[in-house]
Amino acid sequence: MGNKLLSILLFFLFTLIFSFWPGQENTAPKVKIISPSENVKLEWNTIVPYRIIISDQEDGNSEYDEINSSEVVLTVTYFSDSSKVEKYVKEEIAARSDMLSKMASSNCFTCHKAKGKLIGPSFEEIANRYSPAPENKEYLAQKIREGSKGVWGDEIMPGQPELGTDKILQILEWIFKNAQDSDFTFYVGTEGAFKTKKRRKDGLDKAAYVLHAQYADHGINKSLEKSKKGTHSVVLKAE
Ligand code: HEC
Repeated sequence: MGNKLLSILLFFLFTLIFSFWPGQENTAPKVKIISPSENVKLEWNTIVPYRIIISDQEDGNSEYDEINSSEVVLTVTYFSDSSKVEKYVKEEIAARSDMLSKMASSNCFTCHKAKGKLIGPSFEEIANRYSPAPENKEYLAQKIREGSKGVWGDEIMPGQPELGTDKILQILEWIFKNAQDSDFTFYVGTEGAFKTKKRRKDGLDKAAYVLHAQYADHGINKSLEKSKKGTHSVVLKAE
């Protein structure tokens, strides 16, 4: 009889403890640009290889091929006047780059690059071809939703109705605002390379590049709503 009472008491005690146990929390990924390193001075008109490492408690480690490389994005921004860099890194770059994680998880980068053709036209080419008038955005949103063929060549873009018009319009807004900026571009993947600008006469001693890497994780059990983002920025002087 005493034993039974003890078991019942223990049962209630454990139930009480577990009801206050904090729920499992998704940990944010760690993102690190390991190359080029912060103290490197970039040369003009040169190809600069980059490498990013991602480690995430839930998704895994990019060193063991556990991270989907097409969801890792690096933005590269050029400044002829590096006095603007600090504010940019602190206040602007996260918001500017955020949409790229959404585009990455919608698979846009399997077929589209910032500059230069992949399977589909680059976002720069798209922004050059259409003005940002509302009717063009409506037309392009319909193309993304329902698919497209024959406008740019023989390749087909499959329709993506699951994205929803609001999200598609936000993506198009971003493309029209950023894709034609010759001082800003992005690359997809944990490894790659970018090219610095040709030597310019003005402001050479003040020029800088801001590299910003980001990865949005898949949450716990792939529930993307609880996704957390990891970022890392590096400022490099050019001379
Ligand atoms: C499987 C490859 C693929 C994927 C994924 C893809 N696209 Fe495309 N996209 C294409 C191709 C190919 C074209 C050119 C189609 C044509 O010539 O009509 C295109 C065309 C476009 C156009 C221009 C349409 C026009 O009428 O000029 C836009 C805008 C666009 N894509 C945006 C996106 C966005 C945003 C995403 C992600 C949500 C995306 N695409 C995903 C392959 C793809």
